[in-house]
Amino acid sequence: MMKKRVAVIGAGPSGLAQLRAFQSAAAKGADIPEVVCFERQDDWGGLWNYTWRTGLDEYGEPVHGSMYRYLWSNGPKECLEFADYTFEEHFGKAIASYPPRAVLWDYIKGRVEKAGVRDWIRFRTPVRDVSYSEETGRFTVRSHDLVKDHMQDEEFDYVVVASGHFSTPNVPSFPGFSHFNGRILHAHDFRDALEFKDKDILIVGRSYSAEDIGSQCWKYGARSVTTTYRSRPMGFHWPENFEERPLLQKVQNKTAFFADGSTKEIDAIILCTGYKHHFPFLPDDLRLVTANRLWPLGLYKGVVWERNPKLFYLGMQDQFYTFNMFDAQAWFARDVMLGRIELPSREEMEADSAAWRAREESLETDEDAIWFQGDNVKELIGLTDYPEFDVEGVNRTFMEWEHHKHEDIMGFRNNSYASLMTGTMSPAHHTPWVEAMDDSLEAYLQTEPARSAVA
Ligand SMILES: Cc1cc2nc3c(=O)[nH]c(=O)nc-3n(C[C@H](O)[C@H](O)[C@H](O)COP(=O)(O)OP(=O)(O)OC[C@H]3O[C@@H](n4cnc5c(N)ncnc54)[C@H](O)[C@@H]3O)c2cc1C
Ligand SMILES: NC(=O)c1ccc[n+]([C@@H]2O[C@H](COP(=O)([O-])OP(=O)(O)OC[C@H]3O[C@@H](n4cnc5c(N)ncnc54)[C@H](OP(=O)(O)O)[C@@H]3O)[C@@H](O)[C@H]2O)c1
Repeated sequence: MMKKRVAVIGAGPSGLAQLRAFQSAAAKGADIPEVVCFERQDDWGGLWNYTWRTGLDEYGEPVHGSMYRYLWSNGPKECLEFADYTFEEHFGKAIASYPPRAVLWDYIKGRVEKAGVRDWIRFRTPVRDVSYSEETGRFTVRSHDLVKDHMQDEEFDYVVVASGHFSTPNVPSFPGFSHFNGRILHAHDFRDALEFKDKDILIVGRSYSAEDIGSQCWKYGARSVTTTYRSRPMGFHWPENFEERPLLQKVQNKTAFFADGSTKEIDAIILCTGYKHHFPFLPDDLRLVTANRLWPLGLYKGVVWERNPKLFYLGMQDQFYTFNMFDAQAWFARDVMLGRIELPSREEMEADSAAWRAREESLETDEDAIWFQGDNVKELIGLTDYPEFDVEGVNRTFMEWEHHKHEDIMGFRNNSYASLMTGTMSPAHHTPWVEAMDDSLEAYLQTEPARSAVA
């Protein structure tokens, strides 16, 4: 019989989890399908693969990267640790709890380098179109080799969409923007906080990007940071020149007007207004349409496309859990594809999803949301051979993280937590986050503070 074929779209943490899931089954003796991973960028790691580029890249493709210089993990690394490849295994020692981007990228790469799956990936090859034929029961995937400028159609038995959902910006407009005398950008195009040194900046939004980009600009010397919220303030104890105001109503020249009647002179506006799920390569009947939320409808167990269970989506939820949740999902998708897990009828899948959605709608706090996502992860890992880990322990670490943020928003990254995989307590970092200007892997892994901090 001909080998089945699986197309994985994207080689970020989610797509790489899928490759590792198949490789790990093969290493245990399973007969696995042929896996082809299509990746638009020239390297793996998804968002963690930093690029200075914004807008369109050298091939005219939309730039995927939304990460910026000096980005540090915004949650404890203990909450995202792979159960089959620990930080201690990768770095040969325990490291501190909030690593900068380069350190996490290195960790992601380490596992798949060890697994030896790089040659399953076709880099610089975006998927342009996916269609399904009822007659053949197979998908046709059209991909574009950008280097050769060549389009190709191929057939696959299964498709895994792992293309991420934090790359296509949601960009609202406000009255007066077209005449504002300063720079307006979305968080997707933010790269270097030093650009805003000595400036008065306005940040629109109240979620993680608003908090982190605001904090970064503050750390790297913005004169003032003003954030403006639509629903409710973030409510952290901000430093003196950092404040929250109700929603922006309009700007006139360089003056911002807020809903409470107050005004503020500003130099630049950063829209931290989130992202859109965007799948231009999928037809209506295969395309997930959702806001950024914990339980998008249409995905059984958060993974299987109920309308055609040969199609899978990874990492499409709003994320407290990240890397180990993508693993839990990828192992589950793998076992469905390998025939190890039998799916119930479409009606049963939809009823199961409806129950998760009802619970999602009853969640009130971030703490509730974390336990909810943890329960989904726990259920998934119980269904496969992904190494069991203490999900409640991860939830509790998230609770500590929340507490630490409310205690000290500019200092929460100085805390340490124990690994839920090895039990080892992480060491304290050598330099407090507000003073750590060099975010390189080398500086982070030093045991002593760098002698001269580079800003
Ligand atoms: C600014 C920012 C900071 C973050 N910080 C953290 C953090 O500190 N900790 C944390 O745990 N999470 C963080 N996240 C969450 C992040 O979503 C996950 O960590 C993770 O990167 C998601 O992995 P993914 O593989 O699902 O998506 P992505 O990382 O987005 O990777 C998707 C991949 O698919 C490729 N692709 C897209 N379309 C196509 C196509 N048509 N054809 C071929 N390839 C395609 C892309 O090039 C990309 O490589 C952050 C997100 C953002 C935006
Ligand atoms: N490592 C890091 O430090 C780091 C840094 C940045 C981002 N991230 C990650 O990136 C992901 C995305 O976070 P995100 O903050 O970009 O998106 P998000 O969590 O989806 O939040 C979007 C924000 O935009 C606001 N918004 C949307 N439309 C608006 C409008 N018209 N007017 C005013 N406000 C509007 C929303 O307001 P309401 O809440 O009022 O609806 C919300 O606050 C998360 O997973 C996060 O963890 C991590």
